[in-house]
Amino acid sequence: MIPMLEILKRAREIAELIRMQDDVIVVTHIDADGITSGAIALESLNRMGVEADIVFVKNLDSKFIEDLANTNRFVWFTDLGSGALDLILKHDIDCVITDHHNPANCYYRFQLNPHDFGYDGAYDLCGATTTYLVAKNLGFNYDLVSIAIVGAVGDLQDSREGRLLGLNRKILEEAVEGKFIEVVRDLRFFGKQTRPIYKMLEYTFDPYLPGISGNEKGAIEFLESLGIPLKDGDLWRRWIDLTPEERKIIVSELVKICIEAGMPIKLIKRLVGETYILLHEEVGTELRDAMEFSTLLNATARYGYCDIGLKVCLGDRDEAFKKARSLLRNHRKNLSEGLKLVDEIGIVELENIQFFHAGNEILDTIVGIVAGMCFSKANLNKPIVAFAYSEEGVKVSARATQRLVERGVHLAKAIKVAAAKVGGQGGGHSIAAGATIPRGMEEEFLKELDRIIGEQIRSSRQ
Ligand code: C5P
Ligand code: C5P
Ligand code: ZN
Repeated sequence: MIPMLEILKRAREIAELIRMQDDVIVVTHIDADGITSGAIALESLNRMGVEADIVFVKNLDSKFIEDLANTNRFVWFTDLGSGALDLILKHDIDCVITDHHNPANCYYRFQLNPHDFGYDGAYDLCGATTTYLVAKNLGFNYDLVSIAIVGAVGDLQDSREGRLLGLNRKILEEAVEGKFIEVVRDLRFFGKQTRPIYKMLEYTFDPYLPGISGNEKGAIEFLESLGIPLKDGDLWRRWIDLTPEERKIIVSELVKICIEAGMPIKLIKRLVGETYILLHEEVGTELRDAMEFSTLLNATARYGYCDIGLKVCLGDRDEAFKKARSLLRNHRKNLSEGLKLVDEIGIVELENIQFFHAGNEILDTIVGIVAGMCFSKANLNKPIVAFAYSEEGVKVSARATQRLVERGVHLAKAIKVAAAKVGGQGGGHSIAAGATIPRGMEEEFLKELDRIIGEQIRSSRQ
C-alpha cells in the first residue's frame, strides 16, 4: 500500500481504539509542538464527551512510566512516547501514541509515527500534525488544523526550504481549503504582526544581521537610511503596516547585507519563504502568524506554564493570553541574553563537533533553541552541542544543519549511544536531539559523541 494511505489507515485504527474509552489521560511534551498536540487530543476527547485530563512532561523516564502504569488509566501519548516504547510495552500500559521522534526499535500496533512509514519526523510530520490525523477520525475536528500547523512551525519543520513539506503540506492544503490558514510569501522573521519594525530587526538573530541584530541604534539607522518612516503619527509602524514597496526595499537591502557578510546563499534564500496566517485570529496579535503563535507557546511551555499555553490553544483570549504575552517578553529577553553569553564564553571546536557549556546561565529548557540560533554565526560544518545544568544533572541539546544530515549525521542515534555510555538518556531527531547526563560526565560524553559523529560521516561516504 502507498505509505500515505497506510498512515491514514493506522490513524483510523487508533481512533477506533480511542472511541472505546471513557477515561483517557493525555501525556505530552513541554514545547510548542507538545502543547498543540496535547490541545488537539484533549479537545477532540472533550468534544466526544470522554473524561480526559492532560499531563506535560520534559521527557519520559522510567519512574514516570512506572507511576503511569500504576494508575491503570488509558493513555494517549502525544509528541512523545515512541522513544520510550520499549519501556511502555514492558509496563503493559494501555495506550495509543501519536509521535514523530525517532522510535525505539520495536513495533506497536497503536503507534502513529512517520518513521514507521518511511517518512522523516523532522520535516514530514510533527507531533501536532500526527495527532491531528487521528483527531480528524474522532469527530468534526477540522478547525483544529490551525493549531496543528502552529505545532509544525514550532518544531521548525519548515526550516529546510522555508515551507512545510511532506504530509505536513497535505494537512496545510486542507487548512487552506477550509479557509483556516492563508499562505503568504514573506520575510520569515519573528514579530511581523506585533513588533515595531526596528524592534523586529533588532531581535532577529537567526540569521544574524551584522550591524542590526542586537543593535537598536543600528536597526533604526538601517531603516532611516532607506527612508522608511518608523512611526505613523504616535504609533510605531509594524511590518504589516508597511506598503509592499517599502517591504521590497527592506528585503533587498537585507539580502545585500547578508551577501556582503559572506553568508551562505542557502541561508540568505531562507530570509523569505512561506508564512502561515491564521485567518480566524485578530490581525496584529501574536496569534495571527503561526511563527509568532508557536513562539508564544514556547514562552509558556519552557518556563513551566504549559497550562497557560494550552488555554490559549483552546481559545482563551483573556487572562491566559495576557499572561502568555508577558511570558513571551521574558522568553525573548532570555534568548538574546543567552546568545550574548555564548559570544562571551565562545564555542569550542572538536574534530567533528563544537560545543559550549552554559552552566547555570541558560535555562536547560531553552538551551537547545539558543544552540540552534548559534548557527547563524558559528561553523556550519559541525553540529553544535550545548550543555546547561538542570535539576536532573546536565541537559544536553544538539543541533545540526540539513547539509550535515545529508552527509550522514544523525544526532538522535549518536546522542542516544553517547548518553547511555555515561549513564544518561537521550533521543530526538536526525537534525535536533537532546539528552540528560550526570554532572561531571560532559567531557567523556563529548569524546564519545565526537567519535560517533565522525564514524557516521565516514561510513556514509563509503
Ligand atoms: O521534541 P520535539 O520534536 O518537539 O523538538 C524538536 C526540536 O527540534 C525543536 O526544538 C526544534 O527547534 C528542533 N528542530 C530543528 N530543526 C528541524 C526540526 C526540529 O532545529 N528541522
Ligand atoms: O531539548 P531540546 O530542544 O534540545 O530537544 C531536542 C530534541 O531531543 C527534542 O525532540 C526532544 O524531544 C529530544 N530529547 C530527547 N531526550 C532528552 C532530551 C531531548 O529525546 N532527554
Ligand atoms: Zn515535536
